[in-house]
Amino acid sequence: MERFKEQIRSALCIAVGQEVDIGLLEIPPNTKLGDFAFPCFHLAKALKKSPAEIAKTIALKLQPPSFVAEVQPEGAYVNFRIKPQELAKATLQTIEQRKEKYGSSEAGKKKTVLVEFSSPNIAKPFGIAHLRSTVIGNALREIFHFQGYHVLGLNHLGDWGTQFGALLVAYNEWGDEKELEREGIWHLLSIYMKFGEESKIRPELMDEAREWFKRLEQGESKAVELWEMFRELSLSEFHRYYAQLNISFDSYHGEAFYRDKLADTIELVKSKTKTEMSEGALIVDLKRHNMPPVILLKTNETSTYHTRDLAAAIYRMKEYKPVKIVYVVDARQCLHFQQLFKTLELCKLSKGVEFVHVDFGKMTFEGKVMSTREGNFILLEEVLDKAIELAHKIIDEKNPDLHNKDSIASQVGIGAIIFADLVNDRVRDVDFSWDRALSFEGDTGPYVQYAHARICAILRKYSRPLPQKYDPALFKTEVESELIKKLAEFPPTVESAARHLRPSIIARYLIELAQVFNAFYTRCPVLPEAEELRDARIVLCDAARQTLHNGLLLLGLHAPSEM
Ligand code: ARG
Repeated sequence: MERFKEQIRSALCIAVGQEVDIGLLEIPPNTKLGDFAFPCFHLAKALKKSPAEIAKTIALKLQPPSFVAEVQPEGAYVNFRIKPQELAKATLQTIEQRKEKYGSSEAGKKKTVLVEFSSPNIAKPFGIAHLRSTVIGNALREIFHFQGYHVLGLNHLGDWGTQFGALLVAYNEWGDEKELEREGIWHLLSIYMKFGEESKIRPELMDEAREWFKRLEQGESKAVELWEMFRELSLSEFHRYYAQLNISFDSYHGEAFYRDKLADTIELVKSKTKTEMSEGALIVDLKRHNMPPVILLKTNETSTYHTRDLAAAIYRMKEYKPVKIVYVVDARQCLHFQQLFKTLELCKLSKGVEFVHVDFGKMTFEGKVMSTREGNFILLEEVLDKAIELAHKIIDEKNPDLHNKDSIASQVGIGAIIFADLVNDRVRDVDFSWDRALSFEGDTGPYVQYAHARICAILRKYSRPLPQKYDPALFKTEVESELIKKLAEFPPTVESAARHLRPSIIARYLIELAQVFNAFYTRCPVLPEAEELRDARIVLCDAARQTLHNGLLLLGLHAPSEM
């Protein structure tokens, strides 16, 4: 495809009479219009003609390269259609050569991107918002990596803050070592909730909590020891989930990591922008920017969520020299990040670095919210186990003789959860339904995985090495051309997902690819055909298998070869 683009670009340069940037060539949203489109808007000013007139003139003047079947002006665009045979040859060849790398690029070479994701709060159960952040963040990290970036996945654990003062008070009042051993973070949660109740009746508990957090910040050993134990306990639980989801991080520097950097951070902010005292607290006023102030230091001189985020941003810029930092955090924290980014900007600290809050909506489970407060929550562990169990049942029915059933059930079950999240545009709220997510039909992970496994079965039956030679002129049916076009769309799809920070673009693409493949396979027999046609179609099947495989892995799913 790159070769086509380059030659079209050269032809355009001659027709336009000036250099044309290859990046301008688009893939038309509707491939019926053509395989590439050249927009003419940017030429209008210099040529003093309307973009549509320019498009017409270019189409007339242009000497098309031999692989081009048609050049057509369409509104402000010049559309190019590639000869189907040429498209087939180039696409299939690229896939066969690039294999696991098909769809990847070097766009981000030598550039670092930080993806901060998951970031659960310790001493609390892993919430659904954290699951979403984990799944979306992991996909983004893979997508950036595929685009050639050096990517670091950061887990900004919520392990510091006034709430730990409350937890320390609660533990001193109602904590029980034995129960802690038995129930782990559930015991911490229950005493934390008790604190919430009790402090309504005994408001002095809140003062004690602030006091204990101050002791923690000052490094008092009793406070620190307990806090360390809470942290360890929580992390070992979180590691279990990450293992099940097959996700890892390059850093677990949580909020606490920045505690010895807060004083310097505050000094730096003070020196770079105007700060002021307001009701005993040190703030950056953001009224002019229509936002509430950022509190740097509270009345009792303890730090805040914002200060820690400022310290983290400064540390990360210095330590990793990124071009971009993305924070995958739910939409309820939009304002927090707007304030954070604005403060960095006012301090002129964020120059050359793009800060992005990748927000996402709420997720409910068959209409139920998962909330700690109401004590009405679904455990992540239960969700994952149930998914695996359901996948097991389905596989038992569909393919009772499958060996390694357990591992495949886990790949399908967990994959179903991940896909059910990613297939939605992340900013929308989603309701998770078990039947829908695990169905082998519709917009689901199992549907895509099944298409992949089905192709693997065809290739197993073919049972010889892939043909070295085949004739692309044999692809004569509409469904074959559709499939080839879909396959060719994979690289720009990945690029678009990275640009828009939307894994859903890839998830949607995979559904379409699986659909087109299934339509092809219904209409075009493969193995029963005469040798020449069979071999050409086998190459096409393998290209579809490879592309589905690459896409599934980008989203954090497995691509089992049987299921
Ligand atoms: N621990 C936070 C929470 O659960 C999310 C952290 C988001 N990241 C950040 N840099 N503030 O709400």
